[in-house]
Amino acid sequence: MHTNSHLNPVIIASENGRGGAVAAMELLRRGGSAIDAAELAARITEDDPEEHSVGFSGLPNLLGQVELDASLMNGRTLETGAVAGVQEYGNVISLARAVMEELPHVLLVGRGAERFAGEMGQKPADQRTFASLDYWRTRFTETGVELTGAELRHIVTRLTQPLHLEDRVPHGTVNYLVRDTHGDLASAVSTSGHAWKYPGRVGDSPIIGAGNYCDNRYGAVACTGSGELAIRVSTARSLILYLKMGMSLDAAGLECLAEIVQLNPRVGQYMNIVAMTPDGQHAGFSTVPGKHYLYYTGEMTEPVLGERVTNG
Ligand code: GLY
Repeated sequence: MHTNSHLNPVIIASENGRGGAVAAMELLRRGGSAIDAAELAARITEDDPEEHSVGFSGLPNLLGQVELDASLMNGRTLETGAVAGVQEYGNVISLARAVMEELPHVLLVGRGAERFAGEMGQKPADQRTFASLDYWRTRFTETGVELTGAELRHIVTRLTQPLHLEDRVPHGTVNYLVRDTHGDLASAVSTSGHAWKYPGRVGDSPIIGAGNYCDNRYGAVACTGSGELAIRVSTARSLILYLKMGMSLDAAGLECLAEIVQLNPRVGQYMNIVAMTPDGQHAGFSTVPGKHYLYYTGEMTEPVLGERVTNG
C-alpha cells in the first residue's frame, strides 16, 4: 500500500548508467513509479550504440551472436521478471517486465523468450553493430581462432579470461536501483553478458537473488562483473538478508565481498555491487580497488560518482 509521504527520489546506478539516471529522475520528479523509472533507465542504456555491454550493440558470443539477459524486481510486491539468452530483440528489460506482468512465470530463456517478445508486439532486429562485430572479428582474426568444432570449450575458457582481452574491449552490465517519492523501491539489470561467452551462457543479471534483488522493507541490490561468482554465493539476496538481520550497509556489502573472495576467483574475475536501503542510504562495493558507482537524489542537479568500498 502506498503512503502519502513525499520522499526524495533516489537513483543508484553502475558507472555506465548516467543517461538512464537522468531520464529516470525526470520521471520520478513528475511522480512516476520506481518500477517505471527503473525500466526506462535500463531501456536508455540498452538503446545506446556506444554501450557495448548492454542491449543493442552488445558484444557477441563465440559464434558472433548477441545474446541478451535482463531482470527487474518490484520491491513493494516482490514480483519479478527475467529473460536470458535472447537474440534479435533489444529492449530485454521491457520483455522481463512483460514476463512479470503477463505470465505466471519469472524467467523465460532463448527461443521461448523470443516467441513471447513477438507476442508482446516487439519487432525482431539485428542487435549487432559494425563496431560490436568489429571487436569480435578483430579478436578472432588476431588470435587465429577456429570458430567451429570440438575446441570451442577450450577456446571459451581461454578467451573469457579478461586478462586475455584487449584493454579497448569493454565488458559489463548496467544496474539501476530506484526509490520513488512514495518510498517504493525497484531494481533493473540488463546485459549482453560476458563478451565471447560460450553460446547459451547465462550470468547473474537475470538470476534473481544473484545479480538483482529488491525488497521495500530492507533495500535493493544489483551486481556487475563476473556473474558466475554472484550466482555461486547468491550475492544480491545475501546482502538483503544481512540487512534484514541487522547489519549496517557497509558491513553487509563487505560480507558479500568476503564470500566472493573465498571462492578463489580465477585471475581477472571480479565483482561489483551497488546497494540502497529504504531510507536512501547507498553504497558501492567492488573486489577491485578504484571502482565507482553513480548516485543521484532529488535535490541534486546531476548524477555524481561515488567510490566503491573495496576489500581488494
Ligand atoms: N554480470 C553480468 C554477467 O556476468 O553476465
